[in-house]
Amino acid sequence: MKRALITGITGQDGSYLAELLLEKGYEVHGLIRRSSSFNTARIDHLYQEPQDPQRRLKLHFGDLTDGSRLVALLEEIQPNEVYNLAAQSHVRVSFDEPEFTGQTTGLGTTRLLEAIRSSGAKCRFYQASSSEMFGAAPPPQNENTAFYPRSPYGVAKVYSYWITRNYREAYGMFACNGILFNHESPRRGATFVTKKITRAAARISAGLQSELYLGNLDAVRDWGYAPEYVEAMWRMLQHDVPQDYVIATNTAYTVRDFLDFSFRAVGLDWQKYVKFDDRYLRPTEVDALIGDPSKAQEDLKWVPNVLTPRLAKIMVEADLEALKSEGSLYIDSVQTN
Ligand SMILES: NC(=O)c1ccc[n+]([C@@H]2O[C@H](COP(=O)([O-])OP(=O)(O)OC[C@H]3O[C@@H](n4cnc5c(N)ncnc54)[C@H](OP(=O)(O)O)[C@@H]3O)[C@@H](O)[C@H]2O)c1
Repeated sequence: MKRALITGITGQDGSYLAELLLEKGYEVHGLIRRSSSFNTARIDHLYQEPQDPQRRLKLHFGDLTDGSRLVALLEEIQPNEVYNLAAQSHVRVSFDEPEFTGQTTGLGTTRLLEAIRSSGAKCRFYQASSSEMFGAAPPPQNENTAFYPRSPYGVAKVYSYWITRNYREAYGMFACNGILFNHESPRRGATFVTKKITRAAARISAGLQSELYLGNLDAVRDWGYAPEYVEAMWRMLQHDVPQDYVIATNTAYTVRDFLDFSFRAVGLDWQKYVKFDDRYLRPTEVDALIGDPSKAQEDLKWVPNVLTPRLAKIMVEADLEALKSEGSLYIDSVQTN
């Protein structure tokens, strides 16, 4: 039985990847942060009793800022594959917390790679790189496009990209960067713009909310569907040679388009509800990210099926369903986009 370690298992991608690997028969180990309240909602449906002899999902407390803990875990688990998905992953928040973003999203990767090296674990390594590394580089972007990050998050991801390549070249590690363009799902964090939109569309249609405050509506993005993107991560680590891949749909829509698809799904005109708030603007914006995934299509036979219009509909429908059980009062007061 193959063993995988996922950092960021409680996040959007980590939860889908855990599902995928469990389906494939892996024993899955997840790194989770100790929190005063539970942060496992996205993986609760995968829970197995510790006494269950068939249990294949095992969680371990740890943090990417705690290198000695990572070494101990690598020695104990001896995984075949490590997926580094943990990060302070919010671009707007990275302007407020640049140092923490660097510690986690940047240096955290070095700590993990170094833990693999010093523990002697014989494993393949996946690094969650991001289209935000391209920033101001004109689209379409592919594996040969020069990076020009426009946020502390993008800068930290560029560092992680290069440290991953460096460990591959310096130590012969099977280490890959997946340069993923935006991917969303019903499990997307509630302060990301797509989720803010689909959740607002659902709430407004239910009479629970009357307005939605947003920043830049002109940003062009290439939005895909998260469950399909975690499949690409896995395929990268099954390939013969460790390489870096762009994962994207090669389609382009604005935030305005995403509003249109989402509000149309509940039969409303978004222009009646959306208001501008400059708090959601970033000091440096990224105008257009459109990925060219030709290399992944060729080498990994990976093809995206869900494109933005359908994605928006899937998310709105899930948000309508979730209204029945939702509880958080704080989401709308977080100043992010
Ligand atoms: N979604 C996208 O469009 C996209 C695109 C390109 C790249 N990426 C990258 O892909 C990865 C997964 O994205 P996602 O959307 O699933 O992100 P997400 O939902 O924000 O999840 C981030 C995960 O990282 C964990 N984490 C944060 N800081 C940590 C630390 N110091 N130590 C250990 N764990 C920590 C979080 O734990 P808690 O649950 O405790 O907060 C959570 O499990 C991230 O690295 C992200 O930057 C995402």
